[in-house]
Amino acid sequence: MTNFIKYTSLALLLLITTMNFASNKTKKEKTGILLVAFGSSYPETRETFKNIESEVQKAFPNIDIRWAYTSKFIRKKLNKRGEHIDSPTLALAKMSEEGFTHIAVQSLHVIPGAEYDALQKNVNSFRNMPKGIKEITLGKPLMFSHESMENLCTQLNNNLPKEISKNDALIYMGHGTHHQANIYYPAMQYYMWQKNKNHYLATVEGYPSLDEVIKYLKEKKTKKVYLLPFMTIAGDHARNDMAGTDSDSWKSILEAKGYKVKSILTGMADHNGVVKIWVDSIEESLEKLD
Ligand code: CO
Repeated sequence: MTNFIKYTSLALLLLITTMNFASNKTKKEKTGILLVAFGSSYPETRETFKNIESEVQKAFPNIDIRWAYTSKFIRKKLNKRGEHIDSPTLALAKMSEEGFTHIAVQSLHVIPGAEYDALQKNVNSFRNMPKGIKEITLGKPLMFSHESMENLCTQLNNNLPKEISKNDALIYMGHGTHHQANIYYPAMQYYMWQKNKNHYLATVEGYPSLDEVIKYLKEKKTKKVYLLPFMTIAGDHARNDMAGTDSDSWKSILEAKGYKVKSILTGMADHNGVVKIWVDSIEESLEKLD
């Protein structure tokens, strides 16, 4: 009898100790996801950002998601309208205060350009902070390796609007940059041409420009052209520089040259196949954090 009580209480004590240990561990460790985009002030893009979040939340239902925009200009503009989106630094500081110990930061940028470089620095500054975040990872943008280029190209082709046939000319509008990572745009053109010679990629602020593409359209005697953003969201550039009615928009320039033009205002992140690239990247990061 006494032995029975002795062993039962011993077992109970052991059980309580283990449970206590387990709960202490979960109390001390908290994993979070920080999604970081350039940002946009266009209300239409909210749906795209919401879609990214819901896909990420679906994949990781028990992990809290936070947002940050890298563009100070956009954050200021939104702030004036009463919408507050944190910078990556502020978002990470808040997460640290909230007790997050492990954070998977995911860049929603297209290239590893200036915005990504700055984000990398922000993330690095949160490493080794006393009493702060224990582990932090940064997920790569859409283009960064041979596999990522092939994958993105495949996803874009899989998600083309039904009305676009294989023989229609399609011009993607990329952003382009002075940064060395601009090289990813002409590189992507190479990948696109492996799948379809009528798919072109030009940039607003880098190389190749629309003029480069027009040379090919002339050569091929193209008549109809579709315009699509090669950007995370269909924001300001897509709505004005690409599809706008001003004489210097791509649509107007091409129409003035006699082409029949149709703009499609969906960002790359409106396709779940593209969002899946980020979801997979986050999954990889979370595994590293364990
Ligand atoms: Co811009």
